[in-house]
Amino acid sequence: MSDAIKVDNLTKYYGDLLAVDHISFEVRDGEVFGFLGPNGAGKTTTQRMLTTLLEPTEGHIIIHGHDLAHDPYPVKRRMGLVPEESNVYTELTAWANLMFTATLYRVPQAERAVRAQELLETFGLWEKRDVKVENFSKGMRRRLSIAMALIHRPTLFFLDEPTPGLDAQSTRAIRDLVRKLNAEGTTIFLTTHQIEEANQLCDRVAIIDHGRIAAIDTPERLKAAFRRVQSVEVALQPDGQAHGQALGELPGVTTVVKMGDKWRLYTEDPSALLPLVMRYAEDHGLRAVSLCTLGPSLEDVFLEITGQQVGAVRHETGEGSRKQGARGRMRGAGGRGGQR
Ligand SMILES: Nc1ncnc2c1ncn2[C@@H]1O[C@H](COP(=O)(O)OP(=O)(O)O)[C@@H](O)[C@H]1O
Ligand SMILES: [Mg+2]
Repeated sequence: MSDAIKVDNLTKYYGDLLAVDHISFEVRDGEVFGFLGPNGAGKTTTQRMLTTLLEPTEGHIIIHGHDLAHDPYPVKRRMGLVPEESNVYTELTAWANLMFTATLYRVPQAERAVRAQELLETFGLWEKRDVKVENFSKGMRRRLSIAMALIHRPTLFFLDEPTPGLDAQSTRAIRDLVRKLNAEGTTIFLTTHQIEEANQLCDRVAIIDHGRIAAIDTPERLKAAFRRVQSVEVALQPDGQAHGQALGELPGVTTVVKMGDKWRLYTEDPSALLPLVMRYAEDHGLRAVSLCTLGPSLEDVFLEITGQQVGAVRHETGEGSRKQGARGRMRGAGGRGGQR
């Protein structure tokens, strides 16, 4: 695969504040590239430089072979951008917003209406085309904002935090769209602080922290690099609760954490630990009513690298926050393990 984006030594100072600190990376043509990091890591700043909205203090950006500093026009028209802050005109209808953007991007007149209809239908907004955006929900506005960014059929698509705070239906529609666009050949640069989003969507992920890239790889390889955060989870009966300390003293266990009625035993080698757990149960007249091994999640990796619980300040529901809670207990129990 050739490179869609090549970044070399990219740096941004806001006054004295170093927001992006000499980063280098490539985005391959046709991939979904995730830019994952906690709030304030420098993600938006980087994306604004990649999309010519902000001038770098230092460094080079090459997009499809064109140096952005000297030769931006051939690639600018191939880019689509969904910014973090809404860019829709609330006093206009959905239709008028799309027509306005189409004009801005110089979409041929004959094609504007056809494309607008197609996009409104894709995003479930066709029925609402003549409604002013001020009456739209946050999810509808975000979907419209994405439709606007696609009206000129970009081949390189940037999304900055596309889903936080949205309803489940809009989130799903957006993630499905990212997959579909990518399947059709569009290169995607996805900025997110949501680990599960990166895990589900991205071919490769860069973990950015304090303006620097701390790791960059496929989600699965990132997980494999952090095998020490594997674990064995066991529920013992009767009275399994009393055995936590003894289980924690089995060879190879680095940390033991209570997870409801189960014990989670962190270890570098779950397969060596499994028989020891079984023998312990036998020796103590206990039955293992459930027993499983767990690999590291992308969240474990992220926490190991940044020491931060991303999204903790946001109001997220469901899976994400439960997992953060679980991991929080582990960290509380001293389970950070060695640093990179
Ligand atoms: N226009 C600006 N002026 C001064 N500081 C800024 C500006 N934009 C962002 N920053 C600071 O730069 C750092 C990185 O911000 P940002 O790129 O928005 O991070 P992220 O998108 O990862 O949350 C933060 O410390 C932020 O406060
Ligand atoms: Mg941001």
